[in-house]
Parts: sequence; C-alpha cells; structure tokens
Amino acid sequence: MERIPEPELMKKKEQVISYDEADFSEGEVNLINQINHYLMKKKICLNEKDLIVDLGCGPGNISEKLAIKWPNTEVVGIDGSKEMILRAEHNKEISENKKKLKNLRYICSDIKDIKLSNYLLKKEISLLVSNSLIHHITHLEDFFNAIKGLSRNITVNFHKDLKRPLDEKSAMELKLECSTKYNEILTNDYYASLRASYSLKELKNFILENNLSSLEVFEDGDEYLIVYGNV
Ligand SMILES: C[S@@+](CC[C@H](N)C(=O)[O-])C[C@H]1O[C@@H](n2cnc3c(N)ncnc32)[C@H](O)[C@@H]1O
Repeated sequence: MERIPEPELMKKKEQVISYDEADFSEGEVNLINQINHYLMKKKICLNEKDLIVDLGCGPGNISEKLAIKWPNTEVVGIDGSKEMILRAEHNKEISENKKKLKNLRYICSDIKDIKLSNYLLKKEISLLVSNSLIHHITHLEDFFNAIKGLSRNITVNFHKDLKRPLDEKSAMELKLECSTKYNEILTNDYYASLRASYSLKELKNFILENNLSSLEVFEDGDEYLIVYGNV
C-alpha cells in the first residue's frame, strides 16, 4: 500500500481529547518493559545523572510511565502541539501519582527545531524514546536528523511505531477492529496513521543509505516496528 502522509502535529482539540481519553495502557506498559529489557541486556542502569527524552510525547502517557519506572532520572517530554502539552501538564497535575512525577517536565517544540544545545536540556540524553511518532513525520530524514542531533555516544535510542499494512483491505480490517473499542475521531485518526506509517523496508533502506548502521530496525509482532540502538 502506498504511503499517504498525515499532518505532523495533533493540534485539534477534539483529536487531543479523543486520544487522551482512550486507554492504551496495555501497549504502554509493554513498551516500558521492552525498553527495560534492552537496557538490562546492555547492563545500563539509569540514575541521577541520566536524562530521558520522550519525543512526540502527546498527553504524556509514556513520559509519566518512564518517570515512575526510573524515578532518579530526569524525564523530559517534547511535543510540537501546544494543545497536547497543555493536556500532558494537566494530566501530570491531576495524576494520582503526582508525587512520583517531580522528575518530569514538558517542552513544547517541533522535533525539527529542538537542539541538544537548547538551554532547557542541560545534560546529554541517556535514553531517547518515541512511541507512535515516526509515522507523523512527513520526511524520514527529519526524524533521523532530529535523533542524530539529540544523540551522543551514550544515547540509547528506542522508537516504536505502527507498521504500514500491506494493502488497503488489511488497513480496513484494522480500522474496523479499532472502531469496536474507540470513538469515530480516534478510529479515523488511527486509519490515517496506518496509511501514513512506514514499512520495514523503507526504514531499513534509509538506515543503510545514511550510514546509520548502529541502529537496528525490526518488526514487533504484525503491527509494529522498532528502531533501536545508537546513532
Ligand atoms: C500518536 S501521538 C503519540 C503520543 C505519545 N507518544 C503516546 O504514545 O501516547 C503523536 C504525537 O506526536 C506529535 N508530533 C508529531 N509530529 C511532531 C513533530 N514534528 N514535532 C513534535 N511533535 C510531533 C503529535 O503532536 C502527537 O502529540
């Protein structure tokens, strides 16, 4: 199926509310466990000196889980949508885990504009994460340039996203399945995301052609892709 890009930022209020109100907790817990697994495999233990950055953090679901899982680190969620950042700040404020989120803060910025030299990021990033971000980015080089600009030797990258379905029929089946759990706005957004997603081959080719061979790309089940490693 041919890729059809979707708008990068999720700016519409009703879109943000629908996304925020949906329960994606199973996948989020799974993601944190996967990251933990890779860190343990590399014998990396995160503590006070470490900075974790969650790109395209949306309403902060993953950022909050990272902050709780690694309570001694500093966690920064970044999103280019002001509406999403407001929601993330609000969620932090009303969270039953509020006391455990003192190590978490948010920055509103497009990933194409944020630099490690930004005065808001005072340390090198130990763990650079994103979930469901890559498919929003119209040009792959913008995503990889952003993570290259933010990474240093020590930075472990872990980015998970949807994999584009092989054909329209498979995309429609996934859309139908989604509609049994979520409202119409979210279902339509999910369908647009499926069509905007990249394939394993597109990511692999980009990595090969751009000398990023210390990054690995692999499939995670039938529906997801993971980009992992150093840049
Ligand atoms: C599908 S949401 C995922 C949110 C969150 N990572 C999660 O897993 O719950 C994608 C988010 O990426 C943000 N985004 C898309 N393109 C971006 C860009 N170029 N710079 C910063 N944020 C971006 C959107 O505004 C949106 O909040």
